[in-house]
Amino acid sequence: MSEPLRKESVPNRSNEASSEPFPTDINAATTLVGLFGWPVTHSISPQMHNAAFVVRQMNWRYLAFAVPPERVPEAVAALPALGLRGVNVTVPHKQSVMPHLHHWTPAAEAIGAVNTIVVQQDGQLSGDNTDGAGFIADLQAHDVEPAGMRALVIGAGGSSRAVVYGLAEAGVKSVKILNRTVPKAVDLAATMQSYFPEINISGAAFPDDVTGSAQNADLIVNCTSLGMEPRIEGLPWEENVEFRKDQIVYDLVYNPAMTRLLQLASTDGAAAIGGLGMLVYQGAIAWEKWTGESAPVAEMQQATNIIFERR
Ligand code: ATR
Repeated sequence: MSEPLRKESVPNRSNEASSEPFPTDINAATTLVGLFGWPVTHSISPQMHNAAFVVRQMNWRYLAFAVPPERVPEAVAALPALGLRGVNVTVPHKQSVMPHLHHWTPAAEAIGAVNTIVVQQDGQLSGDNTDGAGFIADLQAHDVEPAGMRALVIGAGGSSRAVVYGLAEAGVKSVKILNRTVPKAVDLAATMQSYFPEINISGAAFPDDVTGSAQNADLIVNCTSLGMEPRIEGLPWEENVEFRKDQIVYDLVYNPAMTRLLQLASTDGAAAIGGLGMLVYQGAIAWEKWTGESAPVAEMQQATNIIFERR
């Protein structure tokens, strides 16, 4: 079990000798960031980001806003008017916010979705997508350098787009995308190939092409919901296809922490990495864009671990 957030990093509230206000109390100077989604009650982002503000002793707060789909234009337009520095964006608004922004990054353009809005000093709204970069940052935190690797990505939905973009930008040698609905895999491969002509990106069928693709992969990434609570028996793989010891298996599913896929990989001696770190890093990168400070990633990770231990 992880320890709670380190007490020594939080100022002592009972220090009566100090006349200074507690640096993280909400007051007239509090700066706001947050999350737009519909619904948002399941999100762990408020705890993760607010833990970072406490650790850094910043008078900032992160709030979750449940924004109905038809009110997205009003909500986005209100960001600079209300003085928010930015928001994360989650389902179902990741695409629908885009026409209401002034510009977006190449990552957001290629992925076709925005998960972070930054309100610039001049009030302009910039869209970014930190999911792909968050995935790569977590791989690197596990001492995995994807440059030159042959990647096999299972799934061709929203999270897969971000992962394939992240891998391509990190300089993998090739990406093969397997999906139940094959045309989605082929379309995604063609789109990403147009952004990264130097990388070999292809699409094929899940599960039919698992057996034929497994041996040529250095890194295998599950971007489907197979294996997620409550249907933890789901397996985005073929039971009889063994993993090699030198393969790395990353499962974007983080609930449960040890999925069936990761259990199989681990039993075969491959490296098995769960997706909670990607969630933390995509948030940490957004946090840095809003604040201009380096994010306390270890404490953000600890805050998310605590939430999952309590569930
Ligand atoms: P996310 O944003 O998390 O990526 P998504 O865009 O809904 O979610 O994508 C879900 C992915 O999981 C898709 O690749 C989906 O395959 P289809 O495109 O064929 O729907 C995949 N998926 C979900 N349930 C699946 C199942 N039972 N078997 C195989 N693939 C499944």
